[in-house]
Amino acid sequence: MRENHGGAGPLLEVRNVSLQFGGIAALTDVNLTVHPGELMSVIGPNGAGKTSLFNCITGLYRPTAGDIFFGGRRINGLTADRIAALGIARTFQNIELFSHMTTLDNLLLGRHLHMRAGFFDAAFATRRWWRNEVAQRRRVEEIMDMLDLQSVRHRRVASLPYGMQKLVEVGRALATEPRLLLLDEPSAGMTEEEKADLVFTIRDVQEELGIAVVLGGDDLRMVMEISQRIVVLDRGRVIADDVPAVVQKDPKVIEAYLGEEAMDPARGA
Ligand SMILES: Nc1ncnc2c1ncn2[C@@H]1O[C@H](COP(=O)(O)OP(=O)(O)O)[C@@H](O)[C@H]1O
Ligand SMILES: [Mg+2]
Repeated sequence: MRENHGGAGPLLEVRNVSLQFGGIAALTDVNLTVHPGELMSVIGPNGAGKTSLFNCITGLYRPTAGDIFFGGRRINGLTADRIAALGIARTFQNIELFSHMTTLDNLLLGRHLHMRAGFFDAAFATRRWWRNEVAQRRRVEEIMDMLDLQSVRHRRVASLPYGMQKLVEVGRALATEPRLLLLDEPSAGMTEEEKADLVFTIRDVQEELGIAVVLGGDDLRMVMEISQRIVVLDRGRVIADDVPAVVQKDPKVIEAYLGEEAMDPARGA
């Protein structure tokens, strides 16, 4: 079962992963599978462990126990750079971009950090370097077309509205040509209109590029609308893993989200 030659096997497998911070269990025995080309979400109340899980998958944190496989290969223990090079890209809960640089430069930089042309080639602008450079730029243009970023290509990122900055961050992640894209709370801080746009954009990206997308946390309405499957975390544990219609009605999920409110005596029964 272990071998996976890029065929029908799972793309990502998180197996019995636990993560401790001192006495705090951020993740406990988490199991999760992402299939190639799937659009799914990991949700859960604040502090449930969504970001910690993304950090484990991308190599920023090392699980205390368990294993993570990508394309059948064990990746826990590899560096974040190495994991990115294998085809996992992400955005962060707080936008992480070079905000003084333009949209175009941020995308090109994402691309170059990924490709790392040889220093010799770049310094002497060899034919090979130029050919590579042209290909890079074409790819970045395609991404800007797809995300509707052409009109702001020369704008400094810091001067863009929040929703657009988020798209630049998505673009930079896509510039690395991932097979798996992790979006950590992408719509946090967005207006309703920006959220609606984001739904379309995420669908487009997933359909056009055929890559798997995992949406972390985020607006529940959006997650229910967009996800093929939803995994729910509560206090570091998976409490549900199913299609939206089922997850939505799961009493454990409702309690995890509404527990505190429901028990608030001020609201009555
Ligand atoms: N670097 C860290 N050091 C200590 N505790 C952390 C760290 N990162 C996350 N945690 C803890 O792990 C738990 C899960 O947090 P997090 O993954 O950020 O949840 P979510 O993204 O679902 O809101 C929380 O209790 C949080 O305080
Ligand atoms: Mg988080």
